[in-house]
Amino acid sequence: MLLLACTTEKDHSKLDKLNQIVQQSLDKAIPQYIALEHSVPDTLMPRSANPDGSLMTNESGWWTSGFFPGSLWYLYEYSDQDTLLELARKRTHQIEEEKLNIFDHDIGFKMYCSYGNGLRISGDTSYIPILLQSAETLTKRFKPEVGLIRSWGEIDGESDYLVIVDNMMNLELLFWASRQSGDQKYYDIAVSHADNTIKNHYREDGSSWHVVDYNPETGEVTTKKTAQGYADNSSWARGQSWGLYGYVMCYRETELQRYLDHAVKIADFLVNHPNLPEDKVPFWDFNAPDIPDALRDASAGAIMASALIELSDYVDGAKKEQYLNTAETIIQTLSSEEYRAEEGENNNFLLMHSVGHKPANSEVDVPLSYADYYYIEAMMRYLQHNQDI
Ligand code: GLY
Repeated sequence: MLLLACTTEKDHSKLDKLNQIVQQSLDKAIPQYIALEHSVPDTLMPRSANPDGSLMTNESGWWTSGFFPGSLWYLYEYSDQDTLLELARKRTHQIEEEKLNIFDHDIGFKMYCSYGNGLRISGDTSYIPILLQSAETLTKRFKPEVGLIRSWGEIDGESDYLVIVDNMMNLELLFWASRQSGDQKYYDIAVSHADNTIKNHYREDGSSWHVVDYNPETGEVTTKKTAQGYADNSSWARGQSWGLYGYVMCYRETELQRYLDHAVKIADFLVNHPNLPEDKVPFWDFNAPDIPDALRDASAGAIMASALIELSDYVDGAKKEQYLNTAETIIQTLSSEEYRAEEGENNNFLLMHSVGHKPANSEVDVPLSYADYYYIEAMMRYLQHNQDI
């Protein structure tokens, strides 16, 4: 009894401490993101840092264009400040044209993080047709003979059919569209993509290849390889996080047990991996040859934390505790001075030390707009989780 009382007291003090860290970080994020907003013209979005340290921006066509508006929506949700609502709306409308962009599978990231959060948080129903059009556009990249949405390359006319594990993230838009419109087609495409990804992208131990190439006519697998990881057979950290987040989301959207089982398998691979550092922010690749000196990837950690918080709500016992503890440690680490930038630094991004594309030597050890987005989301989920218990 006494032991239980002590444990509870200890847990409460840990909870209070992390809640405070999270609130301080979100409070500090508001002036940082307003400063970031002021530093980027309305035709561009903040993306990262250039090798010379200056701010890197992108146009709406780049896959990351929805993250800045999405982060502004979350900060508005947190603070209820009208300025943030105005900025979130403005930055969301800036990418409307993407609803017709059939050349990019990442339309789900772009539109669901921006318009999707906007609809959920503000209830603005004018966003519904834009999101439905975006989902319809995404279906154009799905070929029934293959049973997956094509990630890279033109819709037709190529001998390969490349699918990356990251593409799991785009399915959330399709599940929403099916619910909203009542059209089963969006759901069926998402489920087909998720099932074939389990079948062809995943290894026995719960890790995944980054890229699978299919024969576009027969759907046969031709190659399994990497683009952004260390090696074809290695476990690229952000790819593992996208997959984890993707299957947790698929379970939420479908309640199909096989997606929960798969999410747990991926989570167990990650949280028990001997190369996951004690502070739980992964190296950029779990098989990077220079571990323990390899670069960390804050973005992979932020995505993983957000997914693990949600997953902890779907399981019980030791796994629940382990997933939540890991997410808490990641949030704590990312909120420390090691990763969390001070006001006026880091081009006004929140997190330092992410890795975009190491083999191409592009965006290495830099801030990334999506690292910030999933860090903010993880903190919001953490606050919500603590309110619910
Ligand atoms: N394809 C998105 C990423 O770099 O993670």
